[in-house]
Amino acid sequence: MQSPATPEFIRAEKREGDTELDAHVFRQALGQFATGITIITTKNADGKYVGVTANSFNSVSLHPPLVLWSLSKKASSHDAFSVATHYGVSVLSADQEALSHHFSTFKGDRFEGLEVIEGLGGVPLIPNALAHFECKVRNRHDEGDHFIMVGEVLRCDFREGEALVYRSRKYFRN
Ligand SMILES: Cc1cc2nc3c(=O)[nH]c(=O)nc-3n(C[C@H](O)[C@H](O)[C@H](O)COP(=O)(O)O)c2cc1C
Repeated sequence: MQSPATPEFIRAEKREGDTELDAHVFRQALGQFATGITIITTKNADGKYVGVTANSFNSVSLHPPLVLWSLSKKASSHDAFSVATHYGVSVLSADQEALSHHFSTFKGDRFEGLEVIEGLGGVPLIPNALAHFECKVRNRHDEGDHFIMVGEVLRCDFREGEALVYRSRKYFRN
């Protein structure tokens, strides 16, 4: 018999004959992994700044210094990132939630009226972020409905402060 304190798990499993794992359960399980929030930026073929909110950012290697993030094949910035030589990563601070929302939803020029720092390769970086990574694109891996963008970090900086944290579709401060 289970004790009343035993938590109930919601499960998904791909069984023989199923085409896929239950996407809703999969997304909710992934949502339990708390992450920071980044805005990842580059320049498109016309030299215009593009950027997207991403929480898939992570470290890969210390020697050499490598990072990765994954970009949806459906993203409006997909064409720009598919030819980019460099990208910038700005790790958002706790008071930059509005920027996270802006770079995930706004359909026009996301940089209009926004001050930026110009980084290596001409990529824009978000001022007052907690950390910046300026990266040279090393590899793009085609996986499922995303591209994994591996970058070599050419320059980085950071400051002390509270981070913007994301878990189960909600923002927190830490
Ligand atoms: C917190 C958060 C994290 C996200 N992380 C990613 C990500 O890692 N990769 C990605 O391709 N899209 C991610 N998105 C979605 C994009 O920010 C954006 O909403 C999506 O690309 C559709 O908009 P667009 O095509 O106009 O850029 C995230 C959105 C939010 C709110």
